[in-house]
Amino acid sequence: MDPARDALLWAARNHWLREHLPRYRFVRASVARFMPGETVDEALDAAERLVADGIGVTFTNLGENVTDLEAADAVADHYLDVLGRIEARGIDAEISVKATHLGLDLDGDRTLEHLLRLAARSADLGRHLWIDMESSEYVGATIDLAKRLRAEHANTGVCIQAYLHRTLQDVSDLLAIDCSIRLVKGAYREPPEVALQDRSAVSTAFRKLAVEILQRERGTESRLALATHDVDLLDEIERDSAAAEVDRDAYEIQMLYGIRVADQRRLAREGYRVRVLIAYGTYWYPWFMRRLAERPANVWFALRNLGPRK
Ligand code: FDA
Repeated sequence: MDPARDALLWAARNHWLREHLPRYRFVRASVARFMPGETVDEALDAAERLVADGIGVTFTNLGENVTDLEAADAVADHYLDVLGRIEARGIDAEISVKATHLGLDLDGDRTLEHLLRLAARSADLGRHLWIDMESSEYVGATIDLAKRLRAEHANTGVCIQAYLHRTLQDVSDLLAIDCSIRLVKGAYREPPEVALQDRSAVSTAFRKLAVEILQRERGTESRLALATHDVDLLDEIERDSAAAEVDRDAYEIQMLYGIRVADQRRLAREGYRVRVLIAYGTYWYPWFMRRLAERPANVWFALRNLGPRK
């Protein structure tokens, strides 16, 4: 385990830091690299610029672990409103939600009801509803929700983390029901009995899973998103899948707003299907810390914002 990554992921879950760090101007200035703004309008405006470059968008409203059901209801209503705005602007955009933002800690059935409403509305617009994957204590419950949602809505997609030891079985179960998968390396701090610790082992697992999914016979409605900024890994997967005679159109590439922007545009120009996830909202601290942990050198960029403003 990388000690810098470990420390940043610890800080992501620390309540005192969560309360205090976002008050500092240099922290707020640093977040701007990863999100166009806190409001949904700023996210929609950024999306229009990406869509003009041939890049699709996924929106996520930052938040997790709500502590009362009214808050979860408000999150679901918020996303319904966002889907209406996507329709009004006519942009290639969909949404990705966190189960604990929709009340999973409090009432799993209510969370499923919210997901069903959001999937139905997304289906009206011909879009997928994606479910993010959170830390390992939520993985089993999130996969169960995805399976129950997929039983009713073909436009269901769920994020799967390559670093987890359980993932091969989850992928197999999800493919059996033709559920869409967004494959990521995994962003949380997990113990060795739960997840691979070595970065190159995680990349190897990602590569094997991607090729395995691509080689499996899948229904026409499910999608595979390779969600990574690791362009070397994407090249390797393309080589492996070309050898296995898999069509490049069988998958799409997803990246985060503000990361590897030149590659996002290049891949779209080269004819890949590219989608960028845009996060917005005021509850950005834990999400931002996970972005720093992915590349601890980002901390130095953040600290540069401590200097005088030009
Ligand atoms: P890796 O970390 O090896 O990065 C490859 C290269 O990309 C780096 O060398 C660097 O150049 C660049 N890069 C990557 N991250 C960067 C950063 N933060 N800042 C600057 N440069 C960076 N995780 C999860 O657990 N649950 C989820 O639901 C999701 N959802 C999700 C959606 C989408 C669309 C993406 C792209 C990612 C996620 N993730 C996620 C995050 C994922 O698990 C992982 O932590 C990050 O994608 C970083 O890993 P990479 O695969 O990009 O490789």
